[in-house]
Amino acid sequence: MSIQPNTPLSELAAEAKAHLRHFYDKEATLVAAAPGRVNLIGEHIDYCDGFVLPLAINRHILIAAAPNGTSRARIRTTCDEEEAVIPLDQPQEILAPKWSHYMRGVFEGFRSRSIWPLPGFDAIIVSSVPNGGGLSSSAALELATATLAEGLADNFLDTKEKALLAQKAEHDFAKVPCGIMDQFASAFGKKDHLILIDCQTGEPELVPFHDPDLTILVSNTMVSHDLTDGGYAARRKDTEDGLAHLGKSSWRDATMADVEAARKKMGDRVYRRSRHVVGEIERTIQAAEALKTDNYSALASLMAASHTSLRDDFEVSCAELDLLVEIADEIGFEGGVLGARMTGGGFGGSTVTLCRTEHARDIAATLEDSYRAKTHLTPQIFASRPVQGAHLL
Ligand code: GLA
Repeated sequence: MSIQPNTPLSELAAEAKAHLRHFYDKEATLVAAAPGRVNLIGEHIDYCDGFVLPLAINRHILIAAAPNGTSRARIRTTCDEEEAVIPLDQPQEILAPKWSHYMRGVFEGFRSRSIWPLPGFDAIIVSSVPNGGGLSSSAALELATATLAEGLADNFLDTKEKALLAQKAEHDFAKVPCGIMDQFASAFGKKDHLILIDCQTGEPELVPFHDPDLTILVSNTMVSHDLTDGGYAARRKDTEDGLAHLGKSSWRDATMADVEAARKKMGDRVYRRSRHVVGEIERTIQAAEALKTDNYSALASLMAASHTSLRDDFEVSCAELDLLVEIADEIGFEGGVLGARMTGGGFGGSTVTLCRTEHARDIAATLEDSYRAKTHLTPQIFASRPVQGAHLL
């Protein structure tokens, strides 16, 4: 089976409710769901005031909950044995288990907005977002938690504020200095739309994507990454140094000529990082235009250039990601591939392949067979259409 089926939300909800009954002997009164995301183009530039073009995918984190009449949350996930017990009437601390950091960070966001204390509850988390697949399972957990907290408090935040609250949770409690892409995608996702986010203004623009002849394939290398291990923060620091060398306050005011002029004083590494940033901002603007005008040959070149730049200049790809992209490139336009590249933070994770729906099965089979032949790993491949962002079921 090359293309894996996506579990419908109703099935995930039934699973979570059954676990809630089993572990806490309660019927769920609230069910919150938030999707993961895949980014079509615009990588590692959300923290550089750039543009990004993600979509919310048909893979979710879902939380089923019921009040427990106390001032604590008791939470279990089907991915771990350990239960998290979190007080909801005092400042949040970074305590085990690790997955609870994201939730504690979100609760702290509600506390700092005086939506506090939250009523105590018991909950079960289930997930169809592959962990470590570069598909923002952490943002999905943050947004599902925030959506659940909104429901518990009966106090609903503006979508942008909710996404920013989740991003701060990731910064302060998971210690990943991420940009705004993942949380925005999970919060603002809309059925049949990509989200073009202007990361300078923080404004999302919806780009229609409903042509049934187009399919987005996501291929997980099964090589895991950890954004807390320093590679991500180091890249972010390099871009800050690059901008300082340019003497500008925003990458949006920088041109490739500026970067070339500053090449010597930047040094090779910061120069290449800077070249990626300026090039990727331009490519993302052009890619959104190419999509709006059905110019798929232009889109394919832009996605290819993005991958090359992430591999050589930004150095966040890896052999497994490169291999999946090479296999897709070999299949090429004739074989129905309209573009392929690594997606997300990198250092493992997934690739995104835009393809003709009629060829999707064959493309997935070739990706799986050729990848397995060279790595002895079976990639997890699924197709996704853009779905609705975080919501209560
Ligand atoms: C991770 C971060 C995002 C973004 C991407 C790279 O997913 O969480 O903010 O920087 O990497 O584009």
